[in-house]
Amino acid sequence: MEAFQEILKRSKNIVAIAGAGLSAGSGIPTFRGAGGLWRKYDAISLATPEAFRSDPSLVWQFYHYRRTIAGQKSPNAAHYALASLSIPSVLKRVAPNAESFTLVTQNIDGLSTRAFREVAQRHSLSERDIDNLTRDTIIEMHGRLFDVLCTDSSCGHREHNTTNPICPALAGTEEITERHHEIDEWPAIAPLDLPRCPKCDALARPGVVWFGEGIQRTYTIDSVVEKADLALVVGTSSTVYPASGYQSIVAESGGNVAVFNIDDDTISSGRHLSFIGKCEDILPTALFGADVPEHPKAVKGDESCT
Ligand code: APR
Ligand code: ZN
Repeated sequence: MEAFQEILKRSKNIVAIAGAGLSAGSGIPTFRGAGGLWRKYDAISLATPEAFRSDPSLVWQFYHYRRTIAGQKSPNAAHYALASLSIPSVLKRVAPNAESFTLVTQNIDGLSTRAFREVAQRHSLSERDIDNLTRDTIIEMHGRLFDVLCTDSSCGHREHNTTNPICPALAGTEEITERHHEIDEWPAIAPLDLPRCPKCDALARPGVVWFGEGIQRTYTIDSVVEKADLALVVGTSSTVYPASGYQSIVAESGGNVAVFNIDDDTISSGRHLSFIGKCEDILPTALFGADVPEHPKAVKGDESCT
């Protein structure tokens, strides 16, 4: 802990690389390990353009389910701790030499931006500053669960839509599990009844990045990672490219890496500092010591699932 705080004090450009473990404490299942199945499907097998092309009804039901869960959950103490670092005055306090902090998250649940908005409002930042800081300090590299994207590339319309259900035909399908229904009873929703693009009426899709697709804001991420002298690797199995490579880029250029994970398997040997345990328990203290900012709405440990 002391070694980490010393490093924090002299770091200039800090990047946090986050994964599903960041939201585990909020009750959102991770992909690998328990909770990675939806109905009978491996969550990862549904996150492809091929899966959507062959069965848009099934894939939309999966994302409707995930939208429903995410909409019911709240940020936890680890989201708030990282959110606080996006406030320039707080960053200066914990890392006096810091010129930048950027969160690069693989999560699509939106909890990091929700946490940041709340923290920023408590610091009385203007809406304009909040929008600018959100854009500058939080990169949702795998897209956003609550974005909807037109499948017609000549239109390409994207919009944020938190309506639930997003279309009438998906209502109630979040309740259906393998246990409740025979497989042939799962509803097959006709494409015309699935979400449609509000601009051109083509089939719409979730605004997330699927396997095989290009990630969001690649150039910005590359420059953030290249200049970083401290990487906080929070709740990711570091198995999915390109996020899996960011910590090595920081380490190879002489930077420090601090890993926060419940599992020590993800911690490779080398110059890493490792904090083994739930990030929602450890990260706030690691960053702020005895001075953890209050976050009245943070999900408490006993509300979470791991
Ligand atoms: N605190 C810290 N770490 C945790 C916690 C917790 N409370 N709970 C789980 N973890 C760790 C697990 O040990 C695991 O290493 O979080 C990690 C979650 O790993 P994955 O489920 O593989 O999630 P992630 O790394 O985000 O996956 C990357 O894969 O399926 C795709 O697009 C999806 O963005 C996702 C990507
Ligand atoms: Zn369109």
